[in-house]
Amino acid sequence: AVVTGEIDLAASVTGTRGDANALLAEIEGIGLDPDRGGYTRPVFSPAELRLRSWFAAHAAARGLTVDTDRNGVIWAWWDVPGPSDSGAPAPVRRDVIVTGSHLDSVPGGGNFDGPLGVASALAAVDLLRDRGVRPVRPLAVAVFPEEEGSRFGIACLGSRLLAGAVAPERVHALVDDSGSTFDEVAAGAGFDASGIGPDPDRLGDISAFVELHVEQGRGLVDLDQPVALAGAIIAHGRWHLRIEGRGDHAGATRMADRSDPVVVASEAIRSVRQRALAVDDARGTVGRIKVVPGGTNVIASAVDLWIDVRHRSEEQVHLIVEQVVADARRAAEAEDCTLAVTEQSFSPTVSFDPELRDRMQAVLPGAPVLDTGAGHDAGVLASSISTGMLFVRNPSGASHTPAESAEPADVAAGVDALADVLEHLLTR
Ligand code: GLV
Ligand code: MN
Ligand code: MN
Ligand code: MN
Repeated sequence: AVVTGEIDLAASVTGTRGDANALLAEIEGIGLDPDRGGYTRPVFSPAELRLRSWFAAHAAARGLTVDTDRNGVIWAWWDVPGPSDSGAPAPVRRDVIVTGSHLDSVPGGGNFDGPLGVASALAAVDLLRDRGVRPVRPLAVAVFPEEEGSRFGIACLGSRLLAGAVAPERVHALVDDSGSTFDEVAAGAGFDASGIGPDPDRLGDISAFVELHVEQGRGLVDLDQPVALAGAIIAHGRWHLRIEGRGDHAGATRMADRSDPVVVASEAIRSVRQRALAVDDARGTVGRIKVVPGGTNVIASAVDLWIDVRHRSEEQVHLIVEQVVADARRAAEAEDCTLAVTEQSFSPTVSFDPELRDRMQAVLPGAPVLDTGAGHDAGVLASSISTGMLFVRNPSGASHTPAESAEPADVAAGVDALADVLEHLLTR
């Protein structure tokens, strides 16, 4: 049985039919973070689980068959009947068209990054049915777990597992901030993670995946357009730096006698800024720092620091990271600290399938093509299957903040565009 929180589903399905704005309004209160502002919906947290239940309930209420796969991805199926002479009631799930996105969020994010693609998928199913579309192949709406990598560090964890782009052994060993393992957290959410891993059979049955997403930039604002197709995703990766020094008393320890990892961290942060600035159109960010133990009158014993670097060229990303690590190592030596560096996840430059984009463009003539600096499950899956994306205008251009938004009319235009693309893919 699915938990639906306070949502009265019977009333809601009629009220949200074909309307992604109404669907998004239903989850507006879930996972609000009064400290950070916006939404904090880490994977398998009560907030994300409520959203997953909300999705499953809406999918089931629309007659879709819902299941969760070995990697915690939820699939909602609009099946086509098997050949009538086969006598088998089991649907044939080959040549599947998939749409969807994710429901987890960054700390203090908006209500659109992820949920817009999920709500639009449900609304598009309604539109296709209202249009009387008869699919000749199945459609699945997929919801991927831990797209943001905000809880366990690896971006697009669900799609990476599905595609075999991360080893299950590594995922079993991941821990969150409270020290709970991936498997423990999953078990707490009612999901058995013992079977996580690549699923080539499932992927092999998919002929296209189209993800709709709020734009994370001002491309559409500048072009004065509501909807775009995705061109490429720039290469990006995350690295964890652990700097260890010697904890001590802030008053009793002479300056000359210190091994202060915070000083090393500050050099590393400066280096990320300088090294990224030196390369045209590179991005370098330190958005997360943990000082151990973190007392005003305590010289820290350790610092954890997470670095996010992006550029169109994979080589440039690696070059920048090498420079930052070299700078940090020099600073660590000068301060008599140790430095350990781990790559958490890396995503090479992605060009979405040009053939699929041609088909999408034929359906949506005039829609511009935009590249993006943000990562997506569709980008991870692009190395295994044919993928494409739609972007919906975001007036602020901001994302991963509560300022992220989309106008209701643009959301509706996005649903229309998605329905048009799906209709084409499901019927030709
Ligand atoms: C995810 O949204 C990312 O690009 O980091
Ligand atoms: Mn997203
Ligand atoms: Mn995001
Ligand atoms: Mn993303």
